[in-house]
Amino acid sequence: MAWRTAVIASLALLVVGVAAQGTNYKCRMGPDASHAACGLPFELANFQGNFECNDATKVGRPANIADLQALVALYPRVKASGVGHSWWKEQFCSGNDTRSVNVVLTEQKAVLDFMGAPTDPQQWVGRQVPADFPVQVNEADEEVTVAAGVTQRVLLDYLSEYKYWKQRSGWTLPAFSWFLDQTIGGAISTATHGSTMKYGSLSAQLRRLKMVLANGTLLELSPKTNPHLFMAAGAAVGRLGVVTEVTLKIKPQQAIQRRLQELSFEQFAKQIKDTQDAYVQAKQANDVDAMRRALFQVDETQVFWALPTSSVQRVDYEHLDHEPLAVMLNAMPSGEPMVQAMSGPEDDAYKQVEKKAVAANSRMTLNSRFWSNLYVTQLRNKVAPGTFESRKAFLSMSDSETQTTSTFAPYDQYEVVIPIDRAGSCLMEVGKEVYGNDKLWEGARTPFLVRFVTEEDLYLSPTTDGPAMYINLEDYVTRSSNSPNLQFQRIMQLFRQRCGARLHWGKAGWPQHAKCFKGSVEYPTTWCHFGCAVMELDPTGKFNSEWDGWKWQATQGGKPVPYSACCTSKGFSPACTCAPRTDC
Ligand SMILES: Cc1cc2nc3c(=O)[nH]c(=O)nc-3n(C[C@H](O)[C@H](O)[C@H](O)COP(=O)(O)OP(=O)(O)OC[C@H]3O[C@@H](n4cnc5c(N)ncnc54)[C@H](O)[C@@H]3O)c2cc1C
Ligand SMILES: *[C@@H]1O[C@H](CO)[C@@H](O)[C@H](O)[C@H]1NC(C)=O
Ligand SMILES: *[C@@H]1O[C@H](CO)[C@@H](O)[C@H](O)[C@H]1NC(C)=O
Repeated sequence: MAWRTAVIASLALLVVGVAAQGTNYKCRMGPDASHAACGLPFELANFQGNFECNDATKVGRPANIADLQALVALYPRVKASGVGHSWWKEQFCSGNDTRSVNVVLTEQKAVLDFMGAPTDPQQWVGRQVPADFPVQVNEADEEVTVAAGVTQRVLLDYLSEYKYWKQRSGWTLPAFSWFLDQTIGGAISTATHGSTMKYGSLSAQLRRLKMVLANGTLLELSPKTNPHLFMAAGAAVGRLGVVTEVTLKIKPQQAIQRRLQELSFEQFAKQIKDTQDAYVQAKQANDVDAMRRALFQVDETQVFWALPTSSVQRVDYEHLDHEPLAVMLNAMPSGEPMVQAMSGPEDDAYKQVEKKAVAANSRMTLNSRFWSNLYVTQLRNKVAPGTFESRKAFLSMSDSETQTTSTFAPYDQYEVVIPIDRAGSCLMEVGKEVYGNDKLWEGARTPFLVRFVTEEDLYLSPTTDGPAMYINLEDYVTRSSNSPNLQFQRIMQLFRQRCGARLHWGKAGWPQHAKCFKGSVEYPTTWCHFGCAVMELDPTGKFNSEWDGWKWQATQGGKPVPYSACCTSKGFSPACTCAPRTDC
C-alpha cells in the first residue's frame, strides 16, 4: 500500500523543479554532463516536469552576483528562476530561442553551501557571522537579510533556532505561506502569502531588496529611497529584473494556540457572509475600528473545504498580540514609519537537460469522495488544536509532504482572489453551482484551501485595492486521465466571472482564464504605475517573458498618447488615463 502511505503523507501540494531536484544541493554542478550525473537535471519546466520551456532556452547558473550581472547584461531575453513552483510557462520562460536565458538563483555558491548543509545558528556563538553568509539576522532592527535563492523553509528553520543572543525564543517571519519549499525570491516576486489581516503577503513584509536590472546594474530599493519603484519591485513576477537579496521583518516566536471548528460548507459560507456584511457596513460608516473588528474575524484563519462531503475544517489561532485593533487595514500604510534605507558570463549559461515529467496516476480518476476523505482524515492530525511555538503552530506543509506530493501524481494548482466585500456572497453563489445539478464537486480531489490577506500597496499585489479571500484549488484529474476536468474548470470560471476574482501570479490558470488580460481593468489603480516602472528599468523588454499580457496604453483627453509621456518619477501621471489594450 505504498501509494496509500504516499498520499497520507501528503496534503496538497508538490515540488522541486527548474533548479534543484531533491535536496542534495551539495552536488556541485559542472558542465551539463556532470550535472546530469549528479541527478540534478536543469530542465526549464515546473517542479513536476510539466510546463516545459522551449528546449533552446538556456539555463544560467551564475555562482556569484558579479557573474549574474554579466549574464543578465549579455542576453537579450532573461527571466529569473526559483525552483519552478509556479505553473505558468508563458510567465516563467524567458523566451523560446538560444538568445533567451533563465537565470537560476539557487546556484550562488553561498546559497548552495547553505542549502546543502543548513547551519545551526548556535555555531556563531562567540563568532562573527561571515559577511557572505546568505542569512543575516539583525535583532536590533528586527529584520533578516537573505539571498533570493534560499528557500522559505530553510530560512524559517534557521530563524526559529536563532536563540542564543537577544531573543531566547528565536525568531519567525510574521506570517508565512502554507508551502515553504519555494525560494524566497520567487515567493516575494509572486506576492506569496499565508493568512493574515495584519502583515500581508511576504511582499508586504519586505523592508528592502536588491535587484539586477536589464543593463546589469545592481539596484537597491526601499520605500524610503524610491517608494514608486519599491511598490513595483516588491511583487514584480520577474518583470523588472532579477531579485538577488531581500530584507524582511521578523518577530520573536511566541506560544500560539490553535483552534479547530468542524463546519458544514453552508455554515462556513454564512460565517464569511457575516464578516463581509460587517466589513461593508463599517466601511460605509467610515468606522475604522469596526472595519478592523470585522477583518479580525478572519485574521490568520485557514480553512480546508472538502467539496464532496460539503464539510469544512476551520483553523484559527490565539496568541498575545492577536487582538482586533492590531489588524491593519493596509499592511503597509504610508503613515507607518518607513524603514531606514541602508546607507566571462557565457560560461555560466548551459543547455537544458531533459527530465521525465511525473507520470500520470490512474488512481486519481477514482472518485472524488474517496480522495477527499483520505485527505480529510490525514488533515485531522495536522489541524488538531493545541499550543505550539510560532513556527509549528501556523499550518504549513512538511518537508516529507513536499517530497511525496511532488512525485505522487501530476497536478496543477490554481488560486483565486476575491475581495472581502463580496467574499461571502461569492461562496454562496459558487456553492450553489458546486452542489447543483452539474455536481461540480466531482472535479475536486484535495480540499480547497481558503485564506485571508489584508490590503497592501504593492502595485501587483492581488490585495492592492482591499483585503481579500484567497482560495487555492488543485486539478489532480486532467494530467492523470487524459481528459479535461470540466467541472473543475467550471468552478474556476465561476470565480472569475461571478466573483471578479484575480489570479495568483505564481500559479496555473492564466492561459485559460485570463485570455487577453487587461491590466488596466483588473488592476485599475496600479497597473499603469507598474508600467512606468517597466519603461524606466527595462526599456528593451528583456524581462517580458512569453506572456502577452505585459501591455500598457495611455490616453489624454480621450486621445492615445505615447506611454512614456505619462510617466513621472512617482509613477503614472494623474493627467493621463490608464487605457485597456486594444489588440485583442
Ligand atoms: C505545493 C505548492 C504550494 C504552494 N502554496 C502556496 C501558498 O501557500 N501561498 C502562496 O501564495 N503561494 C503558494 N505557492 C506558489 C509559490 O509560492 C509561487 O509560485 C512561487 O513563486 C514559487 O517560487 P519558486 O522559487 O519556485 O519560483 P519560480 O516558480 O521559479 O518563479 C515564479 C515567478 O517568480 C519569478 N522569480 C522567481 N525568482 C525570482 C527572482 N529572484 N527575481 C525575480 N523574479 C523571480 C519567476 O520569473 C516567475 O515568474 C505554492 C506552490 C506550490 C508548488
Ligand atoms: C517565439 O517567440 C516569438 C516572439 O515572442 C514568436 O513570434 C514566435 O512565434 C515564437 N516561436 C515559437 C516556435 O514558439
Ligand atoms: C542602467 O539602467 C538604469 C535604469 O534604467 C539606469 O538608471 C542606469 O543609469 C543604467 N546604468 C548604466 C551603466 O547604463
